[in-house]
Amino acid sequence: MTWHFFRRSYKHLLIVLFSVWLTYYSCHAGSLEVNKTHFQCVESERDALLHFKQGISVDHCGLLDSWGHTQDCCRWPGIRCDNQSGHIIGIKLRGSGSDYSYNPCFEGTLSISLINFKHLKYLDLSNNNFNGQLPKFIGSLASLEQLNLSHSGFWGVIPQEIGNLSRLTSLDLNVVQLYEDFDIRPMRVDNLWWLSRMRLLREVDLSGIDLSATTNIWLSIVNNLSSLRELRLGSCKLSQNSPSSLSYINSSTTLTVIDLNSNNLNDTSIFEWLFNLSGLETNLIYLDLSENQMFANNLQLSLHAMKLLDNLCSLQTLDMAYTNLNYKFSDIFQSFSTCPHKALASLILDGNQVWGSIPDSIGAFYFLKELRVGGNNLNGTITQSIGKLTMLEILDLSINSLNGTLTIAHLSNFSKLRLLYLSLNKEVVVNISVDWIPPFQLDTLRLGSCKIGPYFPRWIITQKNLLILDISNASISDTIPLSFWSSSLLSGIRYLYMSHNMIYGMIPDVSIIFNNSPEIIDLSYNFLEGVIPSFLRNNVSVLYLNNNKFSEGLRNLLCPHTQVIRSPLSDLDISNNLLSEKFPNCWSYFDQLVNLQLENNSLWGNLPTSLDALDQLGGLDLSNNNLSGEIPASLVNCKSLTFLDVANNSLVGHIPPSFGHSFRNLIILNLQNNGFTGVLPTSFCDLSQLQLMDLSGNHISGTIPRCLYKLVSMSNIDGAPSNLLGYYLDDDDDDDNTRVMWKRNEQTFGVSDSLGLLKGIDISNNKLEGHIPEGISSLIGLKFLNLSRNNLTGFIMPRIGQLTSLESLDLSHNHLTGEIPASLAQVSYLTTFDISDNNLTGKIPVGTQLQSFDASNYMGNPGLCGAPLPTCAGDEAPAIAPNGYHKQDTKDDFMLGLYISVILGFIVGFWGVCGTLVVKRSWRHAYFRFYEDIKDRVYVIWVVNIARAWRRS
Ligand SMILES: *[C@@H]1O[C@H](CO)[C@@H](O)[C@H](O)[C@H]1NC(C)=O
Ligand SMILES: *[C@@H]1O[C@H](CO)[C@@H](O)[C@H](O)[C@H]1NC(C)=O
Ligand SMILES: *[C@@H]1O[C@H](CO)[C@@H](O)[C@H](O)[C@H]1NC(C)=O
Ligand SMILES: *[C@@H]1O[C@H](CO)[C@@H](O)[C@H](O)[C@H]1NC(C)=O
Ligand SMILES: *[C@@H]1O[C@H](CO)[C@@H](O)[C@H](O)[C@H]1NC(C)=O
Repeated sequence: MTWHFFRRSYKHLLIVLFSVWLTYYSCHAGSLEVNKTHFQCVESERDALLHFKQGISVDHCGLLDSWGHTQDCCRWPGIRCDNQSGHIIGIKLRGSGSDYSYNPCFEGTLSISLINFKHLKYLDLSNNNFNGQLPKFIGSLASLEQLNLSHSGFWGVIPQEIGNLSRLTSLDLNVVQLYEDFDIRPMRVDNLWWLSRMRLLREVDLSGIDLSATTNIWLSIVNNLSSLRELRLGSCKLSQNSPSSLSYINSSTTLTVIDLNSNNLNDTSIFEWLFNLSGLETNLIYLDLSENQMFANNLQLSLHAMKLLDNLCSLQTLDMAYTNLNYKFSDIFQSFSTCPHKALASLILDGNQVWGSIPDSIGAFYFLKELRVGGNNLNGTITQSIGKLTMLEILDLSINSLNGTLTIAHLSNFSKLRLLYLSLNKEVVVNISVDWIPPFQLDTLRLGSCKIGPYFPRWIITQKNLLILDISNASISDTIPLSFWSSSLLSGIRYLYMSHNMIYGMIPDVSIIFNNSPEIIDLSYNFLEGVIPSFLRNNVSVLYLNNNKFSEGLRNLLCPHTQVIRSPLSDLDISNNLLSEKFPNCWSYFDQLVNLQLENNSLWGNLPTSLDALDQLGGLDLSNNNLSGEIPASLVNCKSLTFLDVANNSLVGHIPPSFGHSFRNLIILNLQNNGFTGVLPTSFCDLSQLQLMDLSGNHISGTIPRCLYKLVSMSNIDGAPSNLLGYYLDDDDDDDNTRVMWKRNEQTFGVSDSLGLLKGIDISNNKLEGHIPEGISSLIGLKFLNLSRNNLTGFIMPRIGQLTSLESLDLSHNHLTGEIPASLAQVSYLTTFDISDNNLTGKIPVGTQLQSFDASNYMGNPGLCGAPLPTCAGDEAPAIAPNGYHKQDTKDDFMLGLYISVILGFIVGFWGVCGTLVVKRSWRHAYFRFYEDIKDRVYVIWVVNIARAWRRS
């Protein structure tokens, strides 16, 4: 799962949207032109239009290409004239875009010639990039009634002059920015009084504009706009009004739409305003307060505020997702009980603390199309009366504590259902006969962690439009029917999750063309066996086959049979199988690969030179195979490697001298238990990102480079979490804490508060000689240091006490001399310690936890004495007993929730991320924090927004 992959698919998305737009525009641009007008346009206005055109430096869509070809500018695309006077009354020159993309047509400046259009009523330049401040002259278009400059690239302060547009009925300046890669600068207001001068306004959209300067007045201004129907102020940095500044006059309102999503309305005072608006009951259709932490998970607050719903009989959309609402689910339906007819069509409450069961009364809400209650505390069974909601298109009850059985009776009336999402509940049993033919065609079916098995749910094969299918962890213990592999379901799929079942048997080598370029195919953690079929490589970006019983097929999968096609594969995990074949040499087709995990198989042969094609490769795990030969020199082309693990193979030869220069991004390096010889190149000291280095069990000779103190990342205790270090987020693990673990030799290291902080060096079991460089004592981030079983001589570095994070220190089986440095007393987290079989002398420093280790850890040093060894000769007074000093169990302190398995690398299952992001806001923040430093924040934003898109689609 990588940013590269997201970037690419994001481009695809843009292309798709662009073509959709082209079709759309070609239909709509035409409809704007006034056919057969008898009047030529006004000459001065034609000149002004040509000036306008001159201001446009780039016209990506060719909208203005034909401007000037004919005299009559009323016939130019995007221009509308009055059919009596010939004056231009409308200009509509839109680029394309949606909430999730932005494809500007124009770049350039807005020409001042615009002021010549004295009769202009409609101006729409949305989705362009004028990249400048909104000019003051916009205020002189005195006839303007509708202004749409949403996403048109203006930034800075909105000029007061805009308030001169007193005839305006519709104002759209939406700049909500969902992508970071378009460098849109923020737009803000100094004050909002200009808005109150537009008395005729019916719709206002200022979403994305920073209105924080108006905190205490925006509501009064809005109250005074007596014609206002639609108010959209999403993501405006609004905070709550201090109640004193609000005059709660009983104003009446004509508002039908109120959208205040994603602000800082962190208490419920906004409801005081809403309570006092008369007319709301009959008018309000759409209320979006989502993503404001207004209820603080406070039951009383929630109860009080939600009284508002009692009279809102016209309400069709209620969106209070991510508001920390603590409310009984059935009470929402109770609120509308006195309404003569139940208009509610969209109820969106995901990511809250809504509790209780799904009431039978829900069946009375016939118009419900969208019900999203994912990520709450619902319990009980899924009532059958939900089956009465025949209009339902979207049903999301995921991540709650529901149990009970889902049957055909629930689903048989859902002819319009598109999305069904029940994953991650307490225990939902899906009891549907395998050959049922559903009345719906879904695009999303997510039943992860529901109990579907033991038989494979063949009814799914009837679904022809599925983009997302998740039947992971669903107790399926069956083979996959052949009809599944040949169904049209599969050819359209984009996300397929079937991991963590007990699916067995072989996958037939059918020839499937995946039409939708699947992002993920995840069949991991099953009992699939035999040959890996080659069709799985077609157009797939992420392929997880790990933890199965595949015995061969790596070559079949990777090496093309017929023509050579570059593969979009970015992430391949076939680790933990029974693959017993020669390591293939077809990597040149996989230049998109970012992660490759083949560990724990029986692959043999040399590492081929074609690996050098993988110049995007970030993670390579080939550990626990039977690979032999040398590391090919060409591997240095894989400059992006951050994780390299070839432990437990039979690789030989020298570590290339340029190693450290080539892999500057390396964070984790594991060459353990191979046959590497030669010296440790000094270029290792340039691995400034390196956090874990394991070279143990080789034949490396020579001295430890003295420059090791240059390992920047290890010389740092807190450090920012490593940029690229991966993590694995356990979907089932529902608490927000952070847990990082690095398991080796049965030892678990707890790591404090942040991600990717485990640091350590293990060079044990080699043939190193010479002194331990003093510089190692400046690597203060080290949690473990193992230099045992070498031929090291000289003293233990006197300043070893600086390594205060150290939890494990092993210097045993060397020829170290001198005394144990007293400074070791400062290392208080030490839980493993071994200096046996050296030639150390003197008294073991007293009064530290050094006394708590077993005597065997000191054995084999004839000159060493003092507790826990026998008393030193001439030491009359017995050593002070270490007073109740026990081995500290520091682990528990550190072990907090979000798991990072370093071994798993930096790979995250897509739904591991997205599924979670949809539901847990705090996790979303964690992701942002984690990615803050990398340039690829776009990726995260994209993920979040796509998650949002799915939530809202
Ligand atoms: C002129 O336009 C108005 C509306 O803008 C329309 O009602 C009227 O029929 C049009 N007249 C002609 C001659 O097209
Ligand atoms: C302004 O234009 C955008 C797209 O270009 C459109 O989505 C939006 O609805 C328009 N605003 C109004 C108020 O019509
Ligand atoms: C437009 O507004 C500004 C202040 O907002 C004012 O000074 C100016 O006179 C107005 N211009 C016109 C033409 O009304
Ligand atoms: C709400 O936000 C304001 C500032 O925006 C802050 O001063 C206040 O403490 C917050 N209140 C709560 C309950 O978080
Ligand atoms: C241990 O060190 C002493 C000198 O401190 C030396 O005489 C002796 O030979 C060494 N023993 C071994 C086994 O290296």
